[in-house]
Amino acid sequence: MKHRNLGSLAVSEIGFGTMSFASAYGTAPDRAEAIRVIRGAHDLGVTLFDTAEAYGPWTNEELVGEALRPIRDQVIIATKFGFNIDQGTGQRGAGVNSRPEQVRQVVDNSLKRLGIETIDLLYQHRVDPSVPIEDVAGVVKELVLAGKVRHFGMSEAAASTIRRAHTVHPVTAVQSEYSLWTRDPEAEVLPLCAELGIGFVPWSPLGAGYLTGKIDAATPIDSTDFRAHSPRFTAEARAANQALVDLLKRIAAVKGATPAQVALAWLLARAPFIVPIFGTRRLDRIEENLGAASVTLAAADMEEIETAFRAMEIKGERLPPHVLQLSYR
Ligand SMILES: NC(=O)c1ccc[n+]([C@@H]2O[C@H](COP(=O)([O-])OP(=O)(O)OC[C@H]3O[C@@H](n4cnc5c(N)ncnc54)[C@H](OP(=O)(O)O)[C@@H]3O)[C@@H](O)[C@H]2O)c1
Repeated sequence: MKHRNLGSLAVSEIGFGTMSFASAYGTAPDRAEAIRVIRGAHDLGVTLFDTAEAYGPWTNEELVGEALRPIRDQVIIATKFGFNIDQGTGQRGAGVNSRPEQVRQVVDNSLKRLGIETIDLLYQHRVDPSVPIEDVAGVVKELVLAGKVRHFGMSEAAASTIRRAHTVHPVTAVQSEYSLWTRDPEAEVLPLCAELGIGFVPWSPLGAGYLTGKIDAATPIDSTDFRAHSPRFTAEARAANQALVDLLKRIAAVKGATPAQVALAWLLARAPFIVPIFGTRRLDRIEENLGAASVTLAAADMEEIETAFRAMEIKGERLPPHVLQLSYR
């Protein structure tokens, strides 16, 4: 697979997110199968792997560490700190926590769980308004100097906060939700990334599965699946947003591709510094999704998609209110 640069960090042009092995989408496969899928992603050309302290918490980092151990020197491991997780018990408390002493502890513990000596890309998962971002960037800088971290990233942060952080320590990548139906980063964050040479990593690039066309208003969603609590996945919203899936299916048919491939190809075509990370529990779907790299959307295709999209009104907020309020701060 071709490579793209997130700042000065070279990665495969499409990356793999491992959150769904921590049951975010309901039942996860057993450990052996999860490891087979993660290693399979690398066999198919993926070098960027995304996890977080909060996935589990902790268990996802342990899984990813075990899966990638034999190929550690061939991959880029990204993880995140920032939720309020008790470092003794692993219990998740309310809100966020980027206090310097917490960040130092999380990094030491993430390194142990991952079984590595350096985290390639360390994101702040959500901005903590009670800690000046300059202090957070300062701690990351200290961790870089100590050799524990290579690159600094931010997730779901406001453009003004990213700019401030970048003055203390260069931000390599910003990771926020971005896809055909979630356009928030286009207003300020993507222009800022272009200006400062920061890479951009869209999460939920397949709209948490909706943009693949495999989900409709009748698809059952288990209560353990986070989408059961997402305003955009009520049966009503799924029915109302069907026009977007129809558009993807139409373009996909012309391109000899699948809707998932078109959704990812659309992101790749938006800017050369964009590296989407999709998630799936299935190796066959990894293979399908990576096929997006061979789907070319010309300017006329992008125009057609944009014109059709502008005529739609997407129903349902992308996340529940208590989660959404942590973003763009
Ligand atoms: N920074 C943050 O705050 C944040 C938040 C959320 C996620 N993330 C990161 O972003 C990664 C990706 O996010 P995501 O998993 O929500 O995104 P996604 O790729 O948009 O959606 C994943 C969903 O799509 C389904 N899917 C994937 N490929 C498919 C295909 N070809 N056909 C049909 N269904 C398909 C998966 O189901 P199956 O498993 O059944 O295939 C799963 O339900 C996560 O793993 C995580 O690393 C970061």
